[in-house]
Amino acid sequence: MTAAEIKKDIYWIGAVDWDRRNFHGYSLSPQGTTYNAFLIKDQKNTVIDTVEDRFAGKLLCNIAHVMPPSEVDYIVVNHVEPDHSGALPELVKACKPEKIFCSVMGEKALKEYYDISGWPLQVVKTGDSVSIGSRTLRFVETRMLHWPDSMMTYVEEDKLLISSDAFGQNYATSARFADEVDQGELARQLSRYYANIVLPFSSVTLKLLDEFGKLGWPVDMIAPDHGLIWRGEGVARVLDDYRRFALQKPVNRAVVFYDTMWRSTERMAHAIAEGLVEAGTPVRVMSLKSDHHSDVMAEVFEAGAVVVGSATHNNGVLPLVSAMLTYMKGLKPLNKVAAAFGSYGWSGESLKLVNEALAAMHFDMVEGVRAKNRPTHDQLKACVEMGRNVAKTLQAKIAAS
Ligand SMILES: Cc1cc2nc3c(=O)[nH]c(=O)nc-3n(C[C@H](O)[C@H](O)[C@H](O)COP(=O)(O)O)c2cc1C
Ligand SMILES: [Fe+2]
Ligand SMILES: [Fe+2]
Repeated sequence: MTAAEIKKDIYWIGAVDWDRRNFHGYSLSPQGTTYNAFLIKDQKNTVIDTVEDRFAGKLLCNIAHVMPPSEVDYIVVNHVEPDHSGALPELVKACKPEKIFCSVMGEKALKEYYDISGWPLQVVKTGDSVSIGSRTLRFVETRMLHWPDSMMTYVEEDKLLISSDAFGQNYATSARFADEVDQGELARQLSRYYANIVLPFSSVTLKLLDEFGKLGWPVDMIAPDHGLIWRGEGVARVLDDYRRFALQKPVNRAVVFYDTMWRSTERMAHAIAEGLVEAGTPVRVMSLKSDHHSDVMAEVFEAGAVVVGSATHNNGVLPLVSAMLTYMKGLKPLNKVAAAFGSYGWSGESLKLVNEALAAMHFDMVEGVRAKNRPTHDQLKACVEMGRNVAKTLQAKIAAS
């Protein structure tokens, strides 16, 4: 895609990564992704953010569609993670900027990633502003959302918030605006991005949303660094979505995920799911062999109850379950009802270990079921009952919240 004007004299100059399927090396991105960068034509021509290094040529080419790269005066680095700063050395070489703005944490990170000798860095902090001619850029540090140096740039006269990784989605498309694509798919990618990338920083997100409310800056466009740009009604909607995501209030929905060697734990999973549905809680059942951990995490994020099954394996849990629990713990989901189950052959440690892992995430625990070898009819009935208990506990939690 070539440069696209998103507001008068403000251009998208990023890159579309159509075939990217593994985002940041650990999370699936089935729709690919984009690295969004922006160019503002003004007295001081300003580039905000760049793209992955392998797309540096594309970035320069997009700039050249608007002006010769040598005419760029200022660069703003909102976030030094390589997907947004990778092309920076080439850009600096091509345009020899007068100034490069970054946060105090950004300066440290730039030194660690690149040889910045001779770069005209200027550190900015929350509340600072810079005039680029007819426009004012205002900066808001958003430390740890989701990197230590993250910040956002607000273009005052255009009511445009360039929001770095917040509000982004992994979505490769020829469209630039959120209202131009399939809304169901967009909602899925927004939620999945939050679940796998932003979730641990939910308290920072809430603080930022409050801070923003207090600043009272009108926003009519939010341009994240990945995916589609929000405008019109989409702006209020994505802000609401982010508040809902960050609050993590329990919802009436469950996910049962498991791994199994000889399918006994799988039978139990299906019986538990029946109990959940009978008691009025919709459920998704996921086998860790079939579903990637980031897909499972997207469901965990959307669910009020998480039920985890593992056969006992070498006195422990199966490796896929162990990996999933570690991954989930790192993302710090909150406010879930949880329970464990599993089949075993002799020592049967998995139930206890999964229970401990879930309890360590401060979930409300419901008693689980363990079945030796192949679950009997009565044990499957106990699983159905367990599913009902999880549903009832979740529904009571929702009623109390
Ligand atoms: C989503 C995400 C979360 C991260 N969390 C942390 C963290 O909590 N602490 C930290 O020091 N670095 C964190 N990092 C930074 C990585 O450890 C850092 O980029 C490192 O250089 C990656 O090394 P590698 O790509 O060679 O494996 C995180 C990176 C990503 C993408
Ligand atoms: Fe990032
Ligand atoms: Fe990013």
